[in-house]
Amino acid sequence: MSICRRLSALFLLVVFSVAAMSALALADDAMVKRGEYLMKVSGCHDCHSPKVYTPQGVPMPDPKRLLSGHPAGLALPEYDKSWTTPGKWVLLNEHFTAFVGPWGVTYSANLTPDKDTGTGLWTEAIFIKALRSGKHMGEGRPIMPPMPWPMIGQMTDEDLGAIFAYLQSIPAVSNKVPEPQLNPPPPGH
Ligand code: HEC
Repeated sequence: MSICRRLSALFLLVVFSVAAMSALALADDAMVKRGEYLMKVSGCHDCHSPKVYTPQGVPMPDPKRLLSGHPAGLALPEYDKSWTTPGKWVLLNEHFTAFVGPWGVTYSANLTPDKDTGTGLWTEAIFIKALRSGKHMGEGRPIMPPMPWPMIGQMTDEDLGAIFAYLQSIPAVSNKVPEPQLNPPPPGH
């Protein structure tokens, strides 16, 4: 092969690789965008993003700490425990990130890609398994109310994968959400 033909083969190879790489980048970008869309329309921000309030008292996701879960160190306001027994009230705090009900007290998780306090060390497989099995990271303790995993877990692998891709693309927020305080099951259960 002449030098000239070799060079043009090399040139074509470079052109094709660059095209293939940008097609992949585009596919990734499209996936992240789909994940962002799916999270907006399926209400994840309602419980996973702390809130700021409009003058009318309407809560909106706080753009500075999107999806970072219940703010660490934020104590719950006082409440009367007799209100949250079965048949009475389920309470939620002003950020919609802490929930009190017959099961105990739960706090929404930090979904940002922070390695110590969020999903930074999770894989897509762990994420999908958690939402399908209702177990923490797919293996651990049961994921408690009001996390609607039985519904969310019915999304397709592609949709859950897109949500995971989006979560890995957002700014990491270091926020260690408290462990839940679960009530003991009633006798005989
Ligand atoms: C009604 C409130 C609510 C909504 C809506 C909600 N979550 Fe949650 N989520 C929670 C709470 C509370 C927890 C923590 C439960 C616990 O500690 O057992 C949680 C936990 C999680 C976890 C951690 C699971 C684990 O393995 O520990 C993931 C992942 C998650 N949610 C993803 C999502 C996604 C994605 C959406 C939207 C498609 C969503 N959540 C919508 C309340 C909610």
